[in-house]
Order: sequence, then C-alpha cells, then structure tokens
Amino acid sequence: MSREQRPQLLINGRAYDYAGNPAKRLSDVLRDDLGLTGTKIGCNAGDCGACTVLIDGKQVCSCLTAVAQASGRAITTVEGLAANEILSGLQRSFHRHGAAQCGICTPGMLMAAADLLARNPQPDSNQVRDALGGVLCRCTGYQKIVEAVLDAAGAELAPLPAAGSAIGARAPKVDGVAKLTGKEHYGADAIPADALWLRVLRSPHHHASFELGDVEAFAAAHPGIERVLRARDVPSNGFGIYPHIKDQPVLADGVVRFRGEAVLALVGTRAAVEAVAENEFPIRYTPLPPVMGIAAAAAPDAPLVQSGKPGNILLDGRVKKGDAAAAFAGCAAVAEGSFESGFVEHAYIEPEAGWAERVGERLEIHVTTQTPYMDRDEMAVVMKLKPDQIRIVPTACGGGFGGKLDLSVQPLVGLAAWLLQKRVACIYTRPESMASTTKRHPSQIRIKSGCDAHGRLIAIETVADFDTGAYASWGPTVATRVPIHASGPYFVPNVTARGRAYFTHCHPSGAFRGFGVPQGAIAHEAMMDELADKIAMDRLAFRRLNALKAGDATATGQVLAHSAGMPQCLDALKPHWDRALAACAEFNRGATAKRRGAGLGCMWYGIGNTSLSNPSTMRIGISAKGELTLYNGAVDIGQGSNTILTQIAADALGLPMGQLRIVMGDTDLTADAGKTSASRQTFVSGKAAEIAGRDLRRQLLDLLHASADAKLELQGSLLKARDAQGEHRCDLSLLPARYGADLLRGEGSFDPPTSPQDADGQGVPYASYAFAAQMALVEVDCDLGTVKVLDIVAAHDVGCAINPTQVEGQIQGGTIQGLGLALMEEYLPGRTENLHDYLIPTIGDVPNMQCILIEDPEPLGPSGAKGVGEPGLIPTAPAILGAIHHATGVRMRRVPVLPHRLRAALKQAETE
Ligand code: FES
Ligand code: FES
Repeated sequence: MSREQRPQLLINGRAYDYAGNPAKRLSDVLRDDLGLTGTKIGCNAGDCGACTVLIDGKQVCSCLTAVAQASGRAITTVEGLAANEILSGLQRSFHRHGAAQCGICTPGMLMAAADLLARNPQPDSNQVRDALGGVLCRCTGYQKIVEAVLDAAGAELAPLPAAGSAIGARAPKVDGVAKLTGKEHYGADAIPADALWLRVLRSPHHHASFELGDVEAFAAAHPGIERVLRARDVPSNGFGIYPHIKDQPVLADGVVRFRGEAVLALVGTRAAVEAVAENEFPIRYTPLPPVMGIAAAAAPDAPLVQSGKPGNILLDGRVKKGDAAAAFAGCAAVAEGSFESGFVEHAYIEPEAGWAERVGERLEIHVTTQTPYMDRDEMAVVMKLKPDQIRIVPTACGGGFGGKLDLSVQPLVGLAAWLLQKRVACIYTRPESMASTTKRHPSQIRIKSGCDAHGRLIAIETVADFDTGAYASWGPTVATRVPIHASGPYFVPNVTARGRAYFTHCHPSGAFRGFGVPQGAIAHEAMMDELADKIAMDRLAFRRLNALKAGDATATGQVLAHSAGMPQCLDALKPHWDRALAACAEFNRGATAKRRGAGLGCMWYGIGNTSLSNPSTMRIGISAKGELTLYNGAVDIGQGSNTILTQIAADALGLPMGQLRIVMGDTDLTADAGKTSASRQTFVSGKAAEIAGRDLRRQLLDLLHASADAKLELQGSLLKARDAQGEHRCDLSLLPARYGADLLRGEGSFDPPTSPQDADGQGVPYASYAFAAQMALVEVDCDLGTVKVLDIVAAHDVGCAINPTQVEGQIQGGTIQGLGLALMEEYLPGRTENLHDYLIPTIGDVPNMQCILIEDPEPLGPSGAKGVGEPGLIPTAPAILGAIHHATGVRMRRVPVLPHRLRAALKQAETE
C-alpha cells in the first residue's frame, strides 16, 4: 500500500503514517499499535462509550470507527487533554468533584464533555446530560460528573489537607490524576507484547454432557495455536470462595452445568486463536434437561444439579428469636406478601482481563480483581502450589461491585503460563463477561409482619429462597446474611427468618453489593408501609417508632452497644418527607395520567464477614530518603480506599497525606488486608492503617527522643519533631535500612470482634452496622407504565465521613444501582449478554440526589468510621416501590418494575 493509500493519522497533534489494516477499529489502533491505552474498551459494540475520542472536535465511539475513516482528521484522545502535563480545567474539575471513581469511564466522559464545552462553554445540566448520554458509568451515579462539567471553567485543584487535618477533608483521590490522564493501567492495558493469547470455548447449553474429539490433532492443524487446555490439564480442577467448597471446575469435565461455562482454552498467537470458528472445536454436546429457577430446583422430583446436594439445597440458614408464630395472635395488624427479583448483572465497564508469567517455580498474575489474597490462595489450590509460590499483582480495577471477587481469567492464564513457560494473556469480551461471571441472586421471598395497635412491631416471619446457580460461589454468605437482616433495621421481639440457596443450571450467583440484603429490604419495607397504612399511621413515623437504636437487641440477640443511627437518619428525612407528601397531594389534584408518589426505604447492614474472622494488616515504612510508603493490601476498586486509608494513616502519623505514597495489593509487597467487599475496608483496614500509623509515629518519636504529643515534620531525609523541650532532629540518610529500602516500619492489624451464631442464629455476626433511610419521589405515567424518579434524599449513618466527597460518591453510585434494580435491570441467560439488551441507568435516568451524612461514631472504627459501599444501594428500590404504591395504589411485588408489568398491574387493579 502506498503512502497515499495508507491512513494518515493526526493524533493529539502528532502525525502517524499507519501501515496496518485500514478496516481495523480505531480503538484497537490507538491501544494496540500506538500504546494510547487511555482510550478504554468496555463493549466493542457502541453501547458503553468508554472508547469515546474526538475526531475533528466531535465525540465518536472509536470502537465503531475504522481507522481509515479517521484518516486526515484531527483525533484527540484523553492523553491529549492535558497540555504539558498540566491538567485541563475539565480534568481539574473532575478531580476536585470526585467525578472519577474506578476511572474506567472517565476518559470517555472527559472526551464527551470536551466536545460539549468547546461548543458551549457554559452549558446547563440538561445540556450536559444530553452530551454525555452515550457514555455509561456504573460507579458514580453521574451526579458528580455533571457537577464537574458545570464547574469546568473555574475549577482549581483541591488542595491536599495539612498534617493532622486529613480526616474529614474532601481530599482529592491519591490516584485521581492517573485516572484523568489515561495513565492508569487496568487489566487490559499493560499486557506484554510477547504474551500469547488465551481464548475460552464456552458451553452454549444450560446443561449438557460432552465428549472431546482429538484435541491434539485440532491444535496441530491450526498453526499458531500452541496448546489446547482441558479439564485433565488442571492440577486440582475446582475452585470456590469457601475453603471447604471447591465445586466450580476451571474447565468443565464431561458435563456443563450452565450456559457460558468454560470447556476448553486455546492458547496461541492472538490472530490464531481468534481465527478459529466456534464450530471447528472438537467437541460434541448431548443436551440434558436443565433445572431453571427456584421452583424447578425445589420440586420434589427435581434432578440434582450437583450430586450429593439433596433437594438442590446449598445452604439453609436461619435466625429464630422469640416465637413469631404464636406472637401473630396478639397483633392488631398483620401484613404479608411475596416478592420476587431476577438476576442482576454487575455491568462493571471493565471486562475481566489479565496476564500471567511463570518466574522459575513461581507464578505471577497481573489481573483486575477485588481480592488479591483470596486469588493467591485459590490459585495455590488449583495449581497445587504453595501460596508463597503465587504472586498476585492487581491492576487498577474498572469496577467490581462483588463480581470480581470470584476467579475469572486467573486460573486459565496461570495454568497456561505455567505449562508453556510463556506469558499468557486473556481479555474477556463483553458477552463472555456477562455470560460467564456471577450475578445477583434471584429471589423469592415470603414475609409476614405484625404490630400492635400503637404501631409497635411484634413479629416477623420470612422465608427467602435464592437461585444460587450451578456452583456455590457466595451462596452460603447470602443464605446466612439475609436471615440476620430480614427483619430490617427495627426492633422486633419475635423473628423467624430462613434463607435457602438452591442450585440450578444457571451461572453462579455471587456477591453483588449487599449479598441478598437488597432483595430482603424490598420485602421488609413493603411490610412497614402496609402495616403503617393498616393502622393509619404515617409511614415515616411508623419506622421511627420501631427504629433500632443503641441498647436494642437485634434479631440475633446482639445488643447494639452504640452507633445505631437509624433514628437520626429518619429524623433527617422528616422535613423532606413532609414536603414531598404535600407536593404529591398538590400534583395529584390534577386529573391526568401522571401521578406522583413518595416512598421510604430503610436498611441496616453488618460490616464485614458474617460471624467469621475478618482481619486486615497494614504497614507503613519510611526510607532513608524520607519516603513514606503505605503498604496496602486492600484493593481500591473505585470506592476510594487508597485515598481514605492514606488520610487515616497520615493523621495517625501526624504528617501530611501528600507525603505518603501507596503500594496497593501486590501480594509480594503488602500484607493481607482481606477482600474489598462487605463494606469493610474503611472500617477494618482503616483501623489497621490507624494502628500502623500510630506504631510508626511512636518509633519515629523514640528515634528523636521526643514526647508523644510532639509535632512531626519531614523534609526530605530530615526528620524533625517539636515539643515542649524544643526541636529534635534526625538525618535519616545516616541510618541503615532494615526492611528492604525502609528504615522503620509501623504495622497495624485489626479483626473486628464477632462471635459464631448458634443453631437459632443467635450471636454477634458483625462488630458494627451501618444504617440508612432514603426517600424517593417518583412520577408514574399510568398510560405508559413508566416511572420517572424525580428526587432521592439519602440519609446515611456512616459513623464518621473520613472523606465526604468519597462517601457521597458511594451513596450516589449505590443509589443509582438501586434504581436500576427497581426499574430496569433483569439479566436473562442467553438473551441479555451485552450492554445493548441489558439496560443500566444512563445519565438521563438520574434524579436529583441529596446526601445527608449522619455521624454516629463507631468506637471500634477509625475515628468512628463504619462503611458505606453497600448501604447506598439497599434502601433505594424499596423507596421507589413505596413511591409507586403511593402514586398509584398498586404494590409491585416483582422487580424490575418494567412498563409492561406496571401497566398490567394497574389494569388488574382497575378490575378489582
Ligand atoms: S467500547 Fe466502544 S462503545 Fe463500548
Ligand atoms: S467511574 Fe465510571 S465506571 Fe467507574
């Protein structure tokens, strides 16, 4: 091809003469050929907008643009936004407003916003929403993104807080600049050029037996394919979250139990493995009848999904306090109902990706994950190696929400790299990610609640059944956590609650922001509304009367010693609630098809593992050059733990947070901080960071012979302390290093105190609980069956807001995921395996959101902090459903409330 025929690219002001395939996606050229990995790939189908770049100033999806189409035109990527390393006003504003959480959508958002601002430097919020409508964000709830774009003209970088004032400051993310400039590396961004490619063949059947043909002949017939991996190649072909349940094969062995299950893995050059057509694989399936859904699994004659699991039951958890069955006889009002939900997909914008290499007798895996230490231990089991032979190096994580707690690419690339002694990489496609990874558990919940004539709750009885899919994953956690939380954040003297997880021939259900508690909250909050209505009491007043408070005993008999801010959350909502009720009454006077309603959702959430040890260890080192390093084994998946742990550690040390750098998650360099889930990192790892900071401070003061209240200062290698005796100095460069490059190291560990539950579920399953109440105002179009959420007010007891910007971001992001659960998200195996058919909230679906932070300090937590990752989501769907009922009189018992379901319910209500 002559130069005239070749695409001539002008990217960020630099000319490229592109000699490759002119039909190649521009996104692939940018990333693979030019190393501009700031442009992200979330779907390769035009659905997510992560790949958005500017061409001649206009936003386009680079995954849908052939490179030849961009020839001769000016292309701008995120790498071109900052001039000479100085952030643009838009980037500064994103940084200041906390508009990037995981950051995987951030380049696309920035480019779409840059297009808008070039045309319209002072847009209003509707114009921002229109312009950014093609870019999906799963983390932020969009509100801070809108605020950042509106503020782009005048934004300056937020200053870092001074020594001793980091906690409570709206400090910008310590890893924010990398996310805003495209320099952050996610799972697919730093794959070595010489890595082989791994492609997985997956089952097209829900349930089938299969036979393999001549795999070796198949490999030999395909030049470039170096190995085909099958079940017998896996040293120990089973993995799973629990040490005693390793029931999911890395590669299926003769039978597949869900559509999307891995059967074979091809390893070779990228071109070779991608060239193989699906029907070329040497495999013959014999489809078998699948067990689909809870009812089918629970049927008396149901075939067993896993042998040795009678009744298809994985776990039957329960909590019993008092005698609920007998107590109903004394109730003045009783309400009951059944509620259902389906699979919900995490839809993180970054699909699973990573690569591995064998280093002598060790295996190193670079991967997007929420849990490097669990990955390490699971890989040791699968590979029959010792844990210290495995090194997990987490990349930046482009969203997780629980979905990256289970192994995905790790055992596949690890096994291939070990056997071939070459680097091997794998990036899941969007459909592959959606078909093969865990989902939120579908649920069927029956509940009955009763109260006395004054509105005091007397009894709750509930059975919650969950579809846990083909393998256990986090099913046991859901089945035990849900009964504990089933009575809601209320004092109830008589509770009987069961949680059962059933095996089916669906993909495993796993961890997803709340571990079943969001489904349970839909049921218990509907009961609160119905009981309040039955005794003619205001819905908020009813909840306030029954709200758990310090000194009350929970359903497991645990007495809440302190930090139970449920009453404060409801009190904070009261003026908003009164205004919303009045506004609804006013609006509904007009006789149109549109009706407005207000609803409430309350929740409580136990922080950390359920009735299990839950430790975290943090270390902080100081080098001879005076460099402070926080060795942090807790992965930041976007929620901001890198920043929050730095703030806590800095204040414990008494030095500015800007002087700490962070090493995150590398299992060779950090200590085990446990997994990033269950809203535990601020509470558990935060406490460990606080203890580590204090430990290092004590060592530094000892070194200087300074008093405990001395003010520390660090100028390069010069360490100083000032106290009543005057100034103390030490030149650290004169001291010998004792821990690698570090002279001294502080260490802190924390394991929240819990106790096992007895046969009736009585015990202390969690050391601390978060509480929240949310109010939703909705408008229902009764003709169309559509629901528009207008306002959400969210009051959350977080103990202490270490970083209010990050806390608000968690609440807003969780709230919008809760909106998706309530109104639009339903994953159907085999039918919604992409972001076109599976709908998540866009920027256009976002209501006005107001966060109210309640700080009822938790004495065990760092500066009183608890956790907020999951609580943001849990109350939202109940609040929206309550608002729909208030608007229409119809109680929706199945989520999502899709228009056809609401229309049908309204029609049925008319005929009753
Ligand atoms: S990667 Fe291009 S739109 Fe999703
Ligand atoms: S910050 Fe938007 S997807 Fe994570």
